[in-house]
Amino acid sequence: MEAARERSHDIRRLTPSRAGMEDFYVRNEPFFDAFGSEEGFDCCGYWMEGTPRPSNYQSKLNLYQEILNLLALQSGDLALDAGCGLGEPARMVSHHTGAKLFGLDIQMRRLRRFEDRGRFPSARASYLQGDGVALPFTSNLFDAMYSNECLLHFSSRQSYFEEAMRVLKPGGRLVVTDYVLGKEGAPRWMTEWIRYHFYTPEMFTADRSHQLASECGFIVGSTRDITGAVFRAHRIAALSMLRGRRRIAQFLAGPRIYFEGTLFLLLAPWLADRSVVRFQMMLFQKPEG
Ligand SMILES: C[S@@+](CC[C@H](N)C(=O)[O-])C[C@H]1O[C@@H](n2cnc3c(N)ncnc32)[C@H](O)[C@@H]1O
Repeated sequence: MEAARERSHDIRRLTPSRAGMEDFYVRNEPFFDAFGSEEGFDCCGYWMEGTPRPSNYQSKLNLYQEILNLLALQSGDLALDAGCGLGEPARMVSHHTGAKLFGLDIQMRRLRRFEDRGRFPSARASYLQGDGVALPFTSNLFDAMYSNECLLHFSSRQSYFEEAMRVLKPGGRLVVTDYVLGKEGAPRWMTEWIRYHFYTPEMFTADRSHQLASECGFIVGSTRDITGAVFRAHRIAALSMLRGRRRIAQFLAGPRIYFEGTLFLLLAPWLADRSVVRFQMMLFQKPEG
């Protein structure tokens, strides 16, 4: 564990590994729990300007609603959530659409965390441990696939798109949300700070992601820059870091992580305004036939 900790601290030597990923989540658990993990989500929220302020939980449901709108799943479809985290999103997507879901994540610890609550796995959502860049599935299997906020951790976005192309059926849809670099780029110290804090081996612009996806054979569909709505919801998450029954215990479990995480949530809109980091929702499609 010590060796993994040392490796994951030093971005210049960051070679993503399952052990390193687990270590990152263990170290950051007090932060992630307050951010939303306690409620089954390991992700950002979505709060549209001009709408009433949602709860932290509702803001995460809102983000998934946007993903669902693009996925257009039908009852009986087979879909893959690659990087599913705690599994609540996969359970919820299957529940609302009638689709059958596979949740895949590299961390068994996360997949199992809420097993005892009896929510995930569920009748229509099962899980599998695996790597999003080397999918343990046969080709042409899934009607749709999505990855919410996890490509930043993957060792290669190119391998991810190649694998998505392989496992999707012709005509299958792929929805990806991702932190990307703004068009203007960012000072190196800043990208290194982001990479270090988010266990991020590669950071790309949205254009580069499109290029990779289309080189792998995808049709690039719509791209929405949802930075405003996502970073507005960061404020709700930052507030939730302060409130709640277990916050003092969480803070004491990792004061530095807690402080840095909250600072990032508050700084994120400033970084976005300067086009350093943006949040994109992208739709791709495997060509028919
Ligand atoms: C920020 S969380 C997002 C989880 C989930 N998609 C959600 O919306 O709550 C990122 C997830 O990606 C997973 N992950 C990281 N690297 C991975 C890989 N190579 N293959 C599969 N999952 C991976 C992590 O274990 C973590 O659960």
